[in-house]
Amino acid sequence: MPESSEVQRGLQDVVALESRICFIDGKQGRLIYQGYDIRDLAAYSTFEEVAFLLWNGRLPRATELTDLTHRLGARRELPAALGDEIDRLPADAHPMDVLRSAVSSFATVEPAETKPDASAIAGAERLTAAIPTILGRFHRRRRGMPVLKPRPEMSAAAYLVYALLDRQPTDLETRAVDVALILHADHELNASTFSARVTASTLSDLYSAVTSAVGTLKGPLHGGANERVNALLNEIGTPERTTEVVRAKLARKERLMGFGHRVYKVEDPRATILREWSRRLGEAKGDLHYYVLLRELEKVVFQEKGLYPNLDLYSGSVYALLGIPTDLFTPIFAASRVSGWSAHVLEEYQDLRLIRPTAKYIGAVDLKYVPIAQRS
Ligand code: ACO
Repeated sequence: MPESSEVQRGLQDVVALESRICFIDGKQGRLIYQGYDIRDLAAYSTFEEVAFLLWNGRLPRATELTDLTHRLGARRELPAALGDEIDRLPADAHPMDVLRSAVSSFATVEPAETKPDASAIAGAERLTAAIPTILGRFHRRRRGMPVLKPRPEMSAAAYLVYALLDRQPTDLETRAVDVALILHADHELNASTFSARVTASTLSDLYSAVTSAVGTLKGPLHGGANERVNALLNEIGTPERTTEVVRAKLARKERLMGFGHRVYKVEDPRATILREWSRRLGEAKGDLHYYVLLRELEKVVFQEKGLYPNLDLYSGSVYALLGIPTDLFTPIFAASRVSGWSAHVLEEYQDLRLIRPTAKYIGAVDLKYVPIAQRS
């Protein structure tokens, strides 16, 4: 067996497995889901169609898409026990913590959905259908608002807005959210997907894998960045202050949220698409505040550090323009990425090999055990 002492910190550039789901060309700035360019999917597809594509490896026929859309609509209601459990969580909890707990609890109230085999696709549909309801249930309770009945006839994008805000979004808003969901649906072996696959590779169930993934997505270097972008914009305030704030942050060696990427060496193609949606929504609402600030920020960060924007830079501006609170931005990311996580879990079950890398040991050996009473 080959012995390698070379450590790839952060597993950078390590090829860990084969996958047919998603391809990133970091040099050309291309992103492909199951063979289809993200730019085409964002222009012509819907989140439901993309979920089908990720789970089945091909685009659906018309009847298949209608069937999936109906099933997703019909499966939005939460089991009563899960709703009660969400209501018992502290109202000041972060919605990502609530989501992680709720996904974990789901397995205890609907264990039949959690089988660790290819039939887990039913569980994938159940989680994808129910996550907006979980988020809406918690968000509305913390604001003292009544529980809403799920609306099975709405598209996934419209229902997400409805579940949170109790209003029917406009066509433009619905399409903006739909595109955001499409763009967030998968991204190869990103940290949260990798953690989902590690969990699945032990033959654990889908809900355990998604619980791992939600916890991983929460971190500010991953999905949690979109919330921090808003904090950065608030700190900058006006475009004239951008250079000063960016320089001060870089001098303190702070990370600029929404910039840089492990794989893309050019602009993240998802940022290119969302930038345009941020502008369109801002124009429609007569509020280009975010767009103008973000454009200036991009310019200054490139000048000062040569970094390109990633997906998280523009997503928050789209949600904020709809009136969605900042701490729901990362949970919305999860509401989409659950489709990709579960596609990867299904793929893992089909070609299972325990994921268990090794570490280069740099600690001591052969220390003599000293009984506690004799330790100084
Ligand atoms: N702000 C400031 N400096 C940065 C940033 C950033 N956003 N990103 C990278 N750098 C710098 C690092 O400080 C380092 O500089 P140095 O060589 O002068 O020390 C260099 O670029 C390389 O950075 P690494 O951390 O080694 O690169 P890595 O591939 O691990 O970084 C990451 C990827 C974690 C995404 C990084 O770019 C980052 O922290 N970005 C901010 C958080 C963010 O936006 N995350 C969302 C990512 S996309 C997603 O999850 C959907």
